[in-house]
Amino acid sequence: MQSGKLVVVGAGAVGSSIAYAALIRSSARDIVLYDVDGPKVDAQVLDLAHGTQFTGVGSVSGGNDIAVAGGADVVVITAGAKQKPGQSRLDLAGTNAEILRTVLPPLLAVSPDAVYLLVTNPCDVMTVIAQRILGLPSGRVFGSGTLLDTSRLRWLIAQKAGISRSSVHASIVGEHGDTEFPLWTGASIGGVPLKDWELPDGEKPFSPQVLDELTREVANAAYRVIAGKGATNYAIGLSAARIIEAVLRGEDAVLPVSSVLDGPYGMSGVALSLPSVVGTGGVRSVLNVPMDDGERERLARSAAAIQAALDALML
Ligand code: LAC
Repeated sequence: MQSGKLVVVGAGAVGSSIAYAALIRSSARDIVLYDVDGPKVDAQVLDLAHGTQFTGVGSVSGGNDIAVAGGADVVVITAGAKQKPGQSRLDLAGTNAEILRTVLPPLLAVSPDAVYLLVTNPCDVMTVIAQRILGLPSGRVFGSGTLLDTSRLRWLIAQKAGISRSSVHASIVGEHGDTEFPLWTGASIGGVPLKDWELPDGEKPFSPQVLDELTREVANAAYRVIAGKGATNYAIGLSAARIIEAVLRGEDAVLPVSSVLDGPYGMSGVALSLPSVVGTGGVRSVLNVPMDDGERERLARSAAAIQAALDALML
């Protein structure tokens, strides 16, 4: 039985897709859309409500008065500029940092006890900035990070292996952006190391070349979707709904999400995605997963990209 009040800030394609996914998956009891654009948020709420005959018992409501965002258990931030074709997520940092400075203080005033989930890109940089603005413990302010990229990777691996997606154990970590990378160390299907996986005809499909191709395909996925339809929304909507469920149900599920690090891998002050325990109150811990030297180097590269973006904002 779902519980809790979810507030989604931003009634654009991403925010409304998160609300839609949460409604269908019964991620929360009350789903509220908040946006300063009154006609738009009212229309999104109506369009969602008209379908509730076919969803769980969760309610959907919203508006452009900040009061609708009060008493939230989880607040998801999607407000901000989106990538244009070919534009990187880091290119959005300056514009979207300003939006956070405007949006977050009034939200904290009406929902001081909420967990804040940053979806707005670049979500790792936004997570650091949001945690500073909100002044909350780092676990209560985190980013959707590379859960979405991990879903993309698992879909590709499952297709190539001819296996259910739920039986693929592999994660994308680091920046939710151009420096993200797969953790091949530990990647497996049903306990069989990915590199040893055999197809029925004895072929081992996951050669080093194929792993490199998968890495590139995941890192370029959003660019490809944006080039074709102008934005991504369905997969991020479902990814965010999954995170919301882990928080509201107190699942203590291990998910690759982005939180401000304080020590793991010798890193502090940057947010990037690592497998983390997500449950009541947000990120409860960041796992110290095995990495080879190459993966540690790529994690450092992600951290450097995020730190450079923060430095450029003089933060
Ligand atoms: C994507 C956006 C959410 O990767 O960054 O689709």
